[in-house]
Amino acid sequence: MRFFGSGASRQSTYSIEALRGRARERLPRAVFDFFDGGAEDERALTANRNAFGRHQLVPYVLRDVSEVSLAANILGTPSSLPLAVGPTGAAGFGWHKGDIAIARAAAGAGIPYGLSTSATASIEEIAEAIPQGRRWFQAYILKNRHFTEKLIARAQAAGFEALMITVDLPVGGKRERDYRNDFSIPFKFTCRNFLDFALHPRWSLPMFFRGVPRMPNLIGIDAATTDTKALASSVGRNYDPSFDWDDLRRVRDLWDGKLIVKGVMRVSDAERAAGLGCDAIVISNHGGRQLDAGLAPLAALPTIARAVGGEVEIMVDGGIRRGADIVVALALGAKAVLIGRPTLYGMCAGGEVGAMLALDILQDEFRRTMQLCGLTSVSQINSDIFKTD
Ligand SMILES: Cc1cc2nc3c(=O)[nH]c(=O)nc-3n(C[C@H](O)[C@H](O)[C@H](O)COP(=O)(O)O)c2cc1C
Repeated sequence: MRFFGSGASRQSTYSIEALRGRARERLPRAVFDFFDGGAEDERALTANRNAFGRHQLVPYVLRDVSEVSLAANILGTPSSLPLAVGPTGAAGFGWHKGDIAIARAAAGAGIPYGLSTSATASIEEIAEAIPQGRRWFQAYILKNRHFTEKLIARAQAAGFEALMITVDLPVGGKRERDYRNDFSIPFKFTCRNFLDFALHPRWSLPMFFRGVPRMPNLIGIDAATTDTKALASSVGRNYDPSFDWDDLRRVRDLWDGKLIVKGVMRVSDAERAAGLGCDAIVISNHGGRQLDAGLAPLAALPTIARAVGGEVEIMVDGGIRRGADIVVALALGAKAVLIGRPTLYGMCAGGEVGAMLALDILQDEFRRTMQLCGLTSVSQINSDIFKTD
């Protein structure tokens, strides 16, 4: 385990929930809520987490678990864990160069990193920051198709291994914490949030001196928009709700590398993605930030895995906060899992060191859970772990 600050602070950050607490202390309420929150009543956000509590593991005992391998294979390439960091936009609002911090942590841990279209680091900056790291580029399909195609071409030129198309966001979700906090990107200063920022100098002073983060991948999206700080708010406006399966086929033809479709929740859609030649799907509800009345991805996983697990690689995300959650997801048929908030919390609490700590915590818990279950390799994880024989 690597250390986080002093011994005492390391002691107090023993779990993802504890890291979340550290992030909450450091960030203004409005910024913390932007990362932490979900849509509307946050039913999906809660459901994602609760879904894991419905699965209990039944351990094998008296097996030699002194040596355990956590190694996995994701998209045909070895990974030190069956885990990847999912794309999360606007990370730089949590820590100066927050995207690079998370990317480095992921590369250091030997797992893939997903860069969001709406990241605060460019495609090329990430390629430079983690030249040896596994890089996936997540594209939102924008109304300006030509712009999207250029982004995809840039990712190809920068050597990104996979293109991830997020399909659960034809329109933006209704994130009510942001309404309550007057939070928008770019910031609009109101009496309420000004006080919030002023009361959190550990966050606001660096922000003040280093400047408000930008979203470099989106520069030029709008011919009329030259102020990059104004771009984030224009992204929602620029999503293309008409994007459909025919368009996805065109993307498949355009992209030479691995193609991942993120946000699939139904068997029929998973079959269609497999039929189009997609290499992987991520069963996801965008961390509960989109369709609030939606099903938890973990609940959709077993049927989708049974139907198409042999044709397309299945990943799942939403609510993974413990190493044991990785075991549950794999036992239900996932090849790997993605995380969003865990590394965001770590980064918001302590930059790259904090993001590394989040990954260390999950890795440590994953190993411990495998040992406690009597399992010594990822390939041994299957649905038998739920049965008493
Ligand atoms: C602050 C934040 C920003 C996100 N931005 C994106 C994004 O730009 N593109 C995307 O496909 N998913 C995005 N997501 C969703 C994540 O990739 C992932 O699906 C989700 O966070 C997983 O749930 P978890 O946070 O419970 O791990 C975002 C999530 C959060 C919390």
